Amino acid sequence: AIERTLSIIKPDATRRNLTGKINARFEEAGLRIVAQKRLQLSRAQAEAFYAVHSERPFFGSLCEFMTSGPVVVQVLEGESAVAKNREVMGATNPADAAPGTIRKDFAESIEANSAHGSDSLENAAIEIAFFFSGIEIVG
Ligand code: CMP
Repeated sequence: AIERTLSIIKPDATRRNLTGKINARFEEAGLRIVAQKRLQLSRAQAEAFYAVHSERPFFGSLCEFMTSGPVVVQVLEGESAVAKNREVMGATNPADAAPGTIRKDFAESIEANSAHGSDSLENAAIEIAFFFSGIEIVG
């Protein structure tokens, strides 16, 4: 089925001017960028977005990192978009990511791992609504 998923190009990637290269990976995989904006997240916004991880030991550091520079938040649309986006990104830890994936090719560490993607269709709807209103998404 055609799905939508929330993607974030993280500060380590925007710092190295990799937005276009990462977007090309998505488009080459058949995902369409149907909404996109560049934001500087506040601490409160980062904490709210990652609230599901609030008890994890890396939560504080993750929120610090996610506010360390601009992010590009985007909605990707396509056949099985949630799974396809995760496939193109590769494993969370770049050390475990398959060759040719975004995280293998670009990530600096398990934290500075260049991209975020929703982990389920249910979370995709929640995460898209966190950043975008309906009229900002043009399929
Ligand atoms: P993301 O897919 O955005 O989801 C949570 C983020 O926490 C993850 O990518 C990493 O950037 C970060 N992170 C840092 N340490 C870990 C860890 N040990 N396990 C999972 N995620 C981690």
